[in-house]
Amino acid sequence: MQPLTNAQSAIDLRSDTVTKPTRAMLDRMVTAELGDDGRGDDPTVEELERVAAARLGKEAGLFLPSGTMSNHVAILSHAIFKGEVVGEASSHIFRSEMGGLSLLAGLYARPLPGQAGAMDLDALDGCLRTPGVTTHALGTTVVCMETTHSMGGAVLSLDHMRAVSSKSLQLDVPVHLDGARIFNAAIALGVTASAIAAFADSVTFCLSKGLSAPVGAVLTGPRPFIERARGFRKMFGGNLRQAGLLAACGLVALEQSIDRLADDHLNARRLADGLHRIDPHLVSPADVVTNIVMVHVETSGTDAQQWTRVLSDHGVLTAPVSKHALRFVTHRHVDASSIERVINVFEEIYRTRPATFFAG
Ligand SMILES: Cc1ncc(COP(=O)(O)O)c(C=O)c1O
Repeated sequence: MQPLTNAQSAIDLRSDTVTKPTRAMLDRMVTAELGDDGRGDDPTVEELERVAAARLGKEAGLFLPSGTMSNHVAILSHAIFKGEVVGEASSHIFRSEMGGLSLLAGLYARPLPGQAGAMDLDALDGCLRTPGVTTHALGTTVVCMETTHSMGGAVLSLDHMRAVSSKSLQLDVPVHLDGARIFNAAIALGVTASAIAAFADSVTFCLSKGLSAPVGAVLTGPRPFIERARGFRKMFGGNLRQAGLLAACGLVALEQSIDRLADDHLNARRLADGLHRIDPHLVSPADVVTNIVMVHVETSGTDAQQWTRVLSDHGVLTAPVSKHALRFVTHRHVDASSIERVINVFEEIYRTRPATFFAG
C-alpha cells in the first residue's frame, strides 16, 4: 500500500468539528440583516436565539462563540451559591474545559463514576446536597449531564435523565445539560430534542459540529437565567458585534442539517462493523449508536499515537484519546465509499503490522 500522494485528499475523522459551512449557509450570510449583538440589536442573532430556544422547548436562548464558553457561562449563571459541580467523571466539562469551573467560577468539581457518560445514580445520591454552605460541607451548585457522550457517542436514556433531574429537583439543585450533540441523541432515541431538554434547566448545543455551521453554540433556558448568562458572556469577552453573519449559518444549520445526521450514524455503524470483522477486539458495534466510534488497538501491539501517525500517512486522520484508544467521528464530508477506504487501509496496516508500517 502506497502512502497518500498530494493529489489524494485525506479522510478526516478527527471530529465532526472539521465540517465546512454549506453553500446555503454562505448564501444566507450574504443577505443576513445585521446589527450590533453586543448591544442586543442584531436581528439575525435574535432570530437564531428564538428558533433555537423553541426547538429545545425553552424560554430564551443566547448565541455564544463556542460550546466550551457556553458551558462556562451556564455554570456561572447557575452558581448563585458556591459549591460543587457534580457530573460524570469523563464528561467534557471535567475532562476538556481547562478547569474553567474552578478557575473562572471558583467552584469545586465532584466527578462521579459512571458508564458510557451516564453517572452512577447511587453515587449521585451520596453526594447531592442542598445549595449553599453548611458548617461541615459544600452544597451542590449544579448537576451536569452530557448527551451524546463525546468519548464514544453514547446517548443517555430518558429514564436516566429523568432520575438525575428528579433527584436534583428534590433538593432545588439546577441541572445543566451539555447537549453539544443533542440532535444526534434525538435521532438515536427517535424523540425531539425538546423531549431530552425537558430534563434540564439549561441546555448548551453546538452549531459547529455535525450541523456544519462554522462557529457557535446556543445556550437555552429560562429568560432570567439567559439574561444573567448574557452578562457572563460579556465578562468572557464573548460579545460579538455583527454576529448575524454567523447566526445566519446557525439558522440554516437548524433548518437543513439535522435530518442528515442519520447518515453519519449509519456510516459510523458501517465503520464499526468493518473494523469488528478485522478483529472483534477493535470495536464493539453495539456501543456505536451515533457518529462516534472508539477503536481499541491494544491487541495490535501498537499504541494509539503510532496508529494515528501511520493512518495519517495513508490518508486517514483520526485522534488518539488514550494510550490504546482512537476516536473516529463521522460527518457530512465522509460518505460510505470513504468508510470503505478507511476499513481497507486499516485492515492492510493491521494484517501486515508491525514490520512494514511501524518499523522505526
Ligand atoms: C460534549 C462536548 N461539549 C462541549 C464541547 C465544546 O465545544 P467547543 O469546541 O465549541 O468549545 C465539545 C467539543 O467537542 C463536546 O464534545
